[in-house]
Amino acid sequence: MNILFVGDIFGSAGRRIVREHIGHIRKAHEVELIVINAENAAGGFGLTPQLAEEFFDMGADVLTTGNHVWDKRELIDYMSAAPADSQARGRRVLRPANLQPGVPGYGVFEGTTASGVDYAVLQLQGCVFMNTTNDPFHACNSLLEDIQAKVILVDFHAEATSEKVAMGWHLDGRVTAVLGTHTHIPTADERILPGGTAFQTDVGMSGPYDSVIGVEKELVLHRFLTGMPGKFEAAKGNPKMCATLVGCDPTTGRAARIQRIMLGE
Ligand SMILES: [Fe+2]
Ligand SMILES: [Fe+2]
Repeated sequence: MNILFVGDIFGSAGRRIVREHIGHIRKAHEVELIVINAENAAGGFGLTPQLAEEFFDMGADVLTTGNHVWDKRELIDYMSAAPADSQARGRRVLRPANLQPGVPGYGVFEGTTASGVDYAVLQLQGCVFMNTTNDPFHACNSLLEDIQAKVILVDFHAEATSEKVAMGWHLDGRVTAVLGTHTHIPTADERILPGGTAFQTDVGMSGPYDSVIGVEKELVLHRFLTGMPGKFEAAKGNPKMCATLVGCDPTTGRAARIQRIMLGE
Protein backbone atom coordinates (compact mmCIF):
# COMPACT_ATOMS: atom_id res chain seq x y z
CA MET A 1 0.00 0.00 0.00
CA ASN A 2 1.12 3.55 -0.65
CA ILE A 3 1.20 6.29 1.97
CA LEU A 4 1.60 9.97 1.09
CA PHE A 5 3.06 12.29 3.69
CA VAL A 6 2.92 16.03 2.91
CA GLY A 7 5.54 18.25 4.60
CA ASP A 8 4.64 21.37 6.62
CA ILE A 9 2.06 23.35 4.66
CA PHE A 10 2.98 27.03 4.99
CA GLY A 11 0.36 29.74 4.47
CA SER A 12 -1.91 30.31 1.49
CA ALA A 13 0.84 29.56 -1.06
CA GLY A 14 1.39 26.16 0.52
CA ARG A 15 -2.32 25.39 0.66
CA ARG A 16 -2.78 26.34 -3.00
CA ILE A 17 0.12 24.24 -4.34
CA VAL A 18 -0.97 21.19 -2.33
CA ARG A 19 -4.57 21.55 -3.56
CA GLU A 20 -3.23 21.68 -7.13
CA HIS A 21 -1.21 18.46 -6.90
CA ILE A 22 -2.65 16.18 -4.23
CA GLY A 23 -5.40 14.72 -6.40
CA HIS A 24 -3.20 13.60 -9.28
CA ILE A 25 -0.49 12.22 -6.98
CA ARG A 26 -3.12 10.24 -5.12
CA LYS A 27 -4.49 8.79 -8.34
CA ALA A 28 -1.17 8.08 -10.04
CA HIS A 29 0.22 6.20 -7.01
CA GLU A 30 -3.04 4.67 -5.74
CA VAL A 31 -2.42 6.28 -2.36
CA GLU A 32 -4.42 4.71 0.47
CA LEU A 33 -3.37 6.88 3.37
CA ILE A 34 -2.65 10.63 3.36
CA VAL A 35 -1.03 12.40 6.30
CA ILE A 36 -0.37 16.14 6.18
CA ASN A 37 1.71 18.26 8.54
CA ALA A 38 -0.41 21.40 8.84
CA GLU A 39 1.27 23.29 11.70
CA ASN A 40 1.96 26.37 9.53
CA ALA A 41 -1.15 26.32 7.35
CA ALA A 42 -2.79 29.43 8.85
CA GLY A 43 -0.56 32.28 7.63
CA GLY A 44 2.51 30.39 8.83
CA PHE A 45 1.34 30.11 12.42
CA GLY A 46 -0.83 27.21 13.48
CA LEU A 47 -3.94 25.65 12.04
CA THR A 48 -7.61 26.65 12.23
CA PRO A 49 -10.52 24.19 12.33
CA GLN A 50 -11.73 25.62 9.00
CA LEU A 51 -8.40 24.85 7.29
CA ALA A 52 -8.31 21.42 8.93
CA GLU A 53 -11.74 20.72 7.39
CA GLU A 54 -10.39 21.82 3.98
CA PHE A 55 -7.50 19.36 4.23
CA PHE A 56 -9.84 16.53 5.23
CA ASP A 57 -12.07 17.43 2.27
CA MET A 58 -8.94 17.22 0.05
CA GLY A 59 -8.47 13.62 1.17
CA ALA A 60 -6.25 13.85 4.25
CA ASP A 61 -6.78 11.04 6.78
CA VAL A 62 -4.69 12.51 9.59
CA LEU A 63 -3.16 15.95 10.21
CA THR A 64 -0.06 16.42 12.30
CA THR A 65 1.20 19.67 13.81
CA GLY A 66 4.25 20.46 15.97
CA ASN A 67 5.54 23.38 18.03
CA HIS A 68 2.95 25.68 16.38
CA VAL A 69 0.00 23.56 17.57
CA TRP A 70 -1.21 26.14 20.13
CA ASP A 71 -0.93 29.21 17.86
CA LYS A 72 -4.67 29.26 17.04
CA ARG A 73 -6.77 28.84 20.16
CA GLU A 74 -9.82 27.59 18.25
CA LEU A 75 -7.86 24.47 17.26
CA ILE A 76 -7.63 23.51 20.94
CA ASP A 77 -11.46 23.43 21.16
CA TYR A 78 -11.67 21.51 17.87
CA MET A 79 -9.28 18.83 19.16
CA SER A 80 -10.74 18.73 22.65
CA ALA A 81 -14.33 18.26 21.41
CA ALA A 82 -13.50 14.79 20.02
CA PRO A 83 -13.38 11.93 22.57
CA ALA A 84 -10.28 9.73 22.70
CA ASP A 85 -11.96 6.74 21.02
CA SER A 86 -13.61 8.84 18.31
CA GLN A 87 -12.83 8.74 14.59
CA ALA A 88 -14.08 12.33 14.16
CA ARG A 89 -12.02 14.84 12.24
CA GLY A 90 -11.06 16.72 15.40
CA ARG A 91 -9.55 13.49 16.78
CA ARG A 92 -7.51 13.09 13.57
CA VAL A 93 -5.54 16.27 14.29
CA LEU A 94 -2.47 15.35 16.31
CA ARG A 95 -0.07 17.30 18.46
CA PRO A 96 3.29 15.85 19.54
CA ALA A 97 2.72 12.94 21.96
CA ASN A 98 5.59 13.87 24.27
CA LEU A 99 4.50 17.32 25.42
CA GLN A 100 3.93 18.05 29.11
CA PRO A 101 1.32 15.82 30.82
CA GLY A 102 -2.26 17.12 30.85
CA VAL A 103 -2.16 19.28 27.72
CA PRO A 104 -5.15 19.01 25.32
CA GLY A 105 -5.26 16.74 22.29
CA TYR A 106 -3.63 13.43 21.37
CA GLY A 107 -0.34 12.35 19.85
CA VAL A 108 -1.52 9.06 18.33
CA PHE A 109 -4.38 8.22 15.99
CA GLU A 110 -5.37 4.67 15.06
CA GLY A 111 -7.68 4.07 12.13
CA THR A 112 -8.51 1.75 9.23
CA THR A 113 -8.08 2.54 5.53
CA ALA A 114 -10.91 2.15 2.97
CA SER A 115 -9.46 -1.23 1.99
CA GLY A 116 -9.43 -2.41 5.61
CA VAL A 117 -5.80 -1.95 6.66
CA ASP A 118 -5.31 -0.88 10.27
CA TYR A 119 -2.81 1.92 10.70
CA ALA A 120 -1.46 4.27 13.33
CA VAL A 121 0.02 7.73 13.03
CA LEU A 122 2.25 8.91 15.87
CA GLN A 123 3.73 12.36 16.26
CA LEU A 124 6.79 13.05 18.37
CA GLN A 125 8.76 16.23 18.90
CA GLY A 126 12.49 16.52 19.39
CA CYS A 127 13.94 17.80 22.64
CA VAL A 128 17.19 19.21 21.20
CA PHE A 129 16.69 23.02 20.89
CA MET A 130 12.96 22.53 21.64
CA ASN A 131 12.41 23.14 25.31
CA THR A 132 8.80 22.17 25.98
CA THR A 133 9.27 18.56 25.02
CA ASN A 134 9.90 15.40 27.04
CA ASP A 135 12.32 12.70 25.91
CA PRO A 136 10.86 11.34 22.64
CA PHE A 137 12.94 8.14 22.67
CA HIS A 138 11.38 6.67 25.82
CA ALA A 139 7.98 8.19 25.00
CA CYS A 140 7.69 6.22 21.76
CA ASN A 141 8.76 2.97 23.44
CA SER A 142 5.76 3.08 25.75
CA LEU A 143 3.34 4.38 23.09
CA LEU A 144 4.25 1.57 20.68
CA GLU A 145 3.37 -1.06 23.32
CA ASP A 146 -0.30 -0.06 22.99
CA ILE A 147 -0.47 0.11 19.18
CA GLN A 148 -1.90 -2.98 17.46
CA ALA A 149 -1.57 -1.84 13.83
CA LYS A 150 1.38 -3.03 11.72
CA VAL A 151 1.39 0.05 9.50
CA ILE A 152 2.75 2.85 11.69
CA LEU A 153 3.87 6.25 10.46
CA VAL A 154 5.87 8.53 12.75
CA ASP A 155 6.13 12.28 12.11
CA PHE A 156 9.23 13.34 14.05
CA HIS A 157 9.04 17.11 14.43
CA ALA A 158 12.55 18.12 15.37
CA GLU A 159 15.26 20.70 14.84
CA ALA A 160 18.48 18.69 15.00
CA THR A 161 19.41 16.33 12.16
CA SER A 162 21.32 14.17 14.67
CA GLU A 163 18.22 13.62 16.80
CA LYS A 164 16.15 12.78 13.72
CA VAL A 165 18.67 10.28 12.35
CA ALA A 166 18.99 8.72 15.81
CA MET A 167 15.20 8.32 15.98
CA GLY A 168 15.26 6.52 12.62
CA TRP A 169 17.68 3.96 14.02
CA HIS A 170 15.79 3.75 17.34
CA LEU A 171 12.55 2.83 15.53
CA ASP A 172 14.02 0.77 12.68
CA GLY A 173 12.08 -2.47 12.32
CA ARG A 174 9.37 -1.27 14.72
CA VAL A 175 7.48 1.19 12.50
CA THR A 176 6.80 1.63 8.77
CA ALA A 177 8.24 5.11 8.44
CA VAL A 178 9.98 7.84 10.42
CA LEU A 179 9.63 11.10 8.51
CA GLY A 180 11.09 14.34 9.79
CA THR A 181 9.32 17.70 9.78
CA HIS A 182 9.86 21.22 11.22
CA THR A 183 13.04 22.43 9.48
CA HIS A 184 11.18 23.13 6.21
CA ILE A 185 14.10 22.07 3.99
CA PRO A 186 13.77 18.71 2.21
CA THR A 187 16.73 16.40 2.76
CA ALA A 188 18.07 13.99 0.13
CA ASP A 189 18.69 11.09 2.52
CA GLU A 190 15.52 9.08 2.03
CA ARG A 191 16.18 5.36 2.40
CA ILE A 192 14.87 2.09 3.74
CA LEU A 193 16.80 1.21 6.90
CA PRO A 194 17.95 -2.45 7.32
CA GLY A 195 15.02 -3.37 9.58
CA GLY A 196 12.46 -2.20 7.02
CA THR A 197 11.68 1.33 8.19
CA ALA A 198 11.48 4.14 5.64
CA PHE A 199 13.40 7.19 6.84
CA GLN A 200 13.97 10.80 5.77
CA THR A 201 15.45 13.53 7.95
CA ASP A 202 13.03 16.19 6.69
CA VAL A 203 10.26 15.99 4.13
CA GLY A 204 10.51 19.75 3.49
CA MET A 205 7.97 22.54 3.46
CA SER A 206 4.99 22.75 1.15
CA GLY A 207 5.05 26.48 0.76
CA PRO A 208 6.77 29.51 -0.76
CA TYR A 209 10.46 28.84 -1.42
CA ASP A 210 11.28 32.51 -2.22
CA SER A 211 11.31 33.06 1.53
CA VAL A 212 13.24 32.11 4.66
CA ILE A 213 11.58 28.80 5.57
CA GLY A 214 8.20 30.30 4.60
CA VAL A 215 8.52 33.82 6.01
CA GLU A 216 8.98 36.96 3.84
CA LYS A 217 12.75 37.13 3.37
CA GLU A 218 13.05 40.91 3.95
CA LEU A 219 11.46 40.58 7.40
CA VAL A 220 13.83 37.79 8.43
CA LEU A 221 16.85 39.61 7.02
CA HIS A 222 15.85 42.74 8.93
CA ARG A 223 15.86 40.73 12.14
CA PHE A 224 19.27 39.21 11.38
CA LEU A 225 20.75 42.56 10.32
CA THR A 226 19.41 44.67 13.19
CA GLY A 227 18.56 42.21 15.95
CA MET A 228 15.27 44.07 16.34
CA PRO A 229 11.92 42.31 16.72
CA GLY A 230 9.37 42.57 13.94
CA LYS A 231 6.22 40.92 12.72
CA PHE A 232 6.72 37.87 10.51
CA GLU A 233 4.46 37.35 7.50
CA ALA A 234 4.07 34.38 5.19
CA ALA A 235 5.73 34.77 1.79
CA LYS A 236 3.98 33.88 -1.46
CA GLY A 237 6.64 33.40 -4.16
CA ASN A 238 7.80 30.17 -5.79
CA PRO A 239 5.45 27.70 -4.07
CA LYS A 240 6.44 24.05 -4.05
CA MET A 241 4.78 20.98 -2.62
CA CYS A 242 7.19 18.70 -0.77
CA ALA A 243 5.94 15.25 0.06
CA THR A 244 7.21 11.71 0.49
CA LEU A 245 5.64 8.51 -0.75
CA VAL A 246 6.18 5.32 1.21
CA GLY A 247 5.24 1.93 -0.18
CA CYS A 248 4.81 -0.85 2.37
CA ASP A 249 3.48 -4.35 2.85
CA PRO A 250 0.15 -3.87 4.65
CA THR A 251 0.38 -7.24 6.40
CA THR A 252 3.82 -6.72 7.97
CA GLY A 253 4.09 -2.91 7.90
CA ARG A 254 7.60 -3.18 6.41
CA ALA A 255 8.48 -0.43 3.98
CA ALA A 256 9.64 -1.40 0.50
CA ARG A 257 9.96 1.97 -1.24
CA ILE A 258 10.44 5.61 -0.38
CA GLN A 259 10.30 8.45 -2.89
CA ARG A 260 10.66 12.19 -2.51
CA ILE A 261 8.32 14.48 -4.40
CA MET A 262 8.82 18.21 -5.06
CA LEU A 263 6.34 19.87 -7.37
CA GLY A 264 5.95 23.51 -8.30
CA GLU A 265 3.48 25.45 -10.40
FE1 LIG B 1 6.74 23.86 10.34
FE1 LIG C 1 7.70 23.29 13.66
